[in-house]
Amino acid sequence: MTIYYHDSQKTFHLQAGDSSYVMQVVNKGFLTHLYWGKKIKEYRFANRLQFTDRAFSGNPHPSENRTFSLDTLPQEFPVYGTTDYRAPIVQVQLENGTTITDFRYDSHRIFKGKPELEGLPSTYIEEEAEAETLEIMLYDELSGLKAVLLYTVYNDRSVITRSIRLVNSGRQSLQLLRALSASVDFRDNDFEFIQLSGAWGKEREIERHSLRQGIQSIESRRGASSHQQNPFLALARKNADEQYGDVYGFSFVYSGNFLAQAEVDQFHTARVSMGINPFDFSWKLEPGDSFQCPEVVMVYSHEGLGGMSRTYHDLYRHRLARGPFRDRERPILINNWEATYFDFNADKIESIAAAGSELGIELFVLDDGWFGHRDDDKTSLGDWFVDERKLPNGLDDLASRVRNMNMEFGLWFEPEMVSVDSDLYRNHPDWCLHVPSANRSESRNQLVLDFSRDDVCIAVTKMVMDILSSAPITYVKWDMNRHMTEIGSARLPADRQRETAHRYMLGLYRVMEKITTSFPHILFESCSGGGGRFDPGMLYYMPQTWTSDNTDAVSRLKIQYGTSLVYPISSMGAHVSDVPNHQVNRLTSLQMRGDVAASGNLGYELDLTKLTDEEKEEVTQQVAQYKKIRSLIQFGDFYRLLSPFAGNETAWMFVNKKKTEAVLFYFRVLDAPNAPFRSVKAHGLDSGKTYRIQETGEIVGGDELMYAGMDVPADVSGDFQSVVWHLKEAE
Ligand code: DGJ
Repeated sequence: MTIYYHDSQKTFHLQAGDSSYVMQVVNKGFLTHLYWGKKIKEYRFANRLQFTDRAFSGNPHPSENRTFSLDTLPQEFPVYGTTDYRAPIVQVQLENGTTITDFRYDSHRIFKGKPELEGLPSTYIEEEAEAETLEIMLYDELSGLKAVLLYTVYNDRSVITRSIRLVNSGRQSLQLLRALSASVDFRDNDFEFIQLSGAWGKEREIERHSLRQGIQSIESRRGASSHQQNPFLALARKNADEQYGDVYGFSFVYSGNFLAQAEVDQFHTARVSMGINPFDFSWKLEPGDSFQCPEVVMVYSHEGLGGMSRTYHDLYRHRLARGPFRDRERPILINNWEATYFDFNADKIESIAAAGSELGIELFVLDDGWFGHRDDDKTSLGDWFVDERKLPNGLDDLASRVRNMNMEFGLWFEPEMVSVDSDLYRNHPDWCLHVPSANRSESRNQLVLDFSRDDVCIAVTKMVMDILSSAPITYVKWDMNRHMTEIGSARLPADRQRETAHRYMLGLYRVMEKITTSFPHILFESCSGGGGRFDPGMLYYMPQTWTSDNTDAVSRLKIQYGTSLVYPISSMGAHVSDVPNHQVNRLTSLQMRGDVAASGNLGYELDLTKLTDEEKEEVTQQVAQYKKIRSLIQFGDFYRLLSPFAGNETAWMFVNKKKTEAVLFYFRVLDAPNAPFRSVKAHGLDSGKTYRIQETGEIVGGDELMYAGMDVPADVSGDFQSVVWHLKEAE
């Protein structure tokens, strides 16, 4: 990791792990982009910028040079109105109504470490020596706006983090109309665009398609990062697969409305832009005010998608997630949601917990329905006091009884929401997002509390903290079950209404910061109707997320495989549930359900009191086996071997850092007559080591497993099958 500046050429060369990133200040202060890719020892302008006169590409300084146009230049901070017609990174409206800016290089500094971003989640360092940062200051004379561009490189990681702070250093009031966090220009468009798209119950399906001239974008306008699009995109060379080829990943550390796009222009260059969605956004900057854009984490991989994912996993596991649970093995839990829904009482809960304890499960989670008078989803959100009809002796008593069974106790909340039928709403009808005199649309019978308001945030924080202090709670599931509509705040003036959605995120981040740091002994898991807010912003506060409300093992193959493109396995909640499955009605084997869930943070979500003796025996074994491989699963390197998006089979494996232990999972959804023989090639082992297969006692070489492959036994028959091989280095 090093950042070089060459004054004579005005170049910046950032070396990050196995990658290089090069920029140059040209002409009268334009910051251009020269290179991003595999590491170069010393940059000597092999791919220098080309200057030629192109029709309809205007010139900022025509009298001096007709060959210089921003329209043809790869740039770091593109703006609108001064000859570049591609997507700008920033747009600002001046008091005279115009929106033209002309940013030029002003100064820079290089320093050890990585600054925090005020009020926002971001990747971090623990020691200054871990990273180095380049800060480039650009200045626009027309508006008086300064742009402070931050680039951080970490030791030994092929990662560059970027963010921008905009400072109004002029004398007029400005309206930011667009404030993206990063823009990168590539010299060609010979890439495929990879996105993680879906819907409730089918989050983060991998889509991959060629770039074409024009804009290809993904975005959220829902007030949450969303089930529909994840704040991530990658450009991959067409030959890039899991092991080989160049891949460029962009991941946005933010949980609200975002835009991520690639624009291919007339010269077949590609520009990637990422940041807060400019749609329905503006931000007023009075003189002296500043605006901090969230962080984009850019990863370069020469080892295909697998290499990119492992870089994200390591960084997000160790330098995005925080708190004591970051490096701790996560407990195996039993959650009562699919077992009881709203229909439970203390005895029922105790009986499920008792059954879980006998099976070796370590944590009981009481889901929705314990507060107010919530017998269905029509009521009580916001009334965070115990429903004594269901829990007559309160939470403390229930939690203590669960703990006496040798299990931890966890609790569900949905702090950002309010039911119309609640005391909170009756007392404070203006505390929700709304627009005066407009209808208030409901979703799941609920409204969104206005977290852009400090008073609302403080009141909600207190209610949640009071409950957390009232009982021995060591786990919280933080849910959020609707998207925003009628986005407006009773507290903001007319010219700041379009700040509401971003102010909401800042409020949410403040609330989560306060609560999670006040209760460091609590493991927090975020959730939004499953994985509707599975994003790096949430992972900063809560080290794991409920991956999807869809617990069907077959659906989960795609959901977990897609999620693993960016997010570490230790961040994925995965539960074994009942059959027929409650979301898709499918009947799968308990073995496959167990193996799919054991490929994440294992949990159970069914009425354990109804298991047969045989099922109990099987679950006891699953739990015991998971405890043996848990650290490998949660903290090992992850390799995708066969994709569920390509066919009927899926395989993946986990390898510890020393390559002395690994576990390989193979899944086959449907059986077929006379099916081809299958062998699965392992990745990531040490070719010089030999391994003992724990299930069979056989000894095989790492080279054999990787080059020749492991045979799936031909007698595995029937639908919904899984096979697991646990490998340990042979003595
Ligand atoms: C949605 C979550 O994803 C479910 O797991 C469950 O907690 C329900 N909400 C409860 O309302």
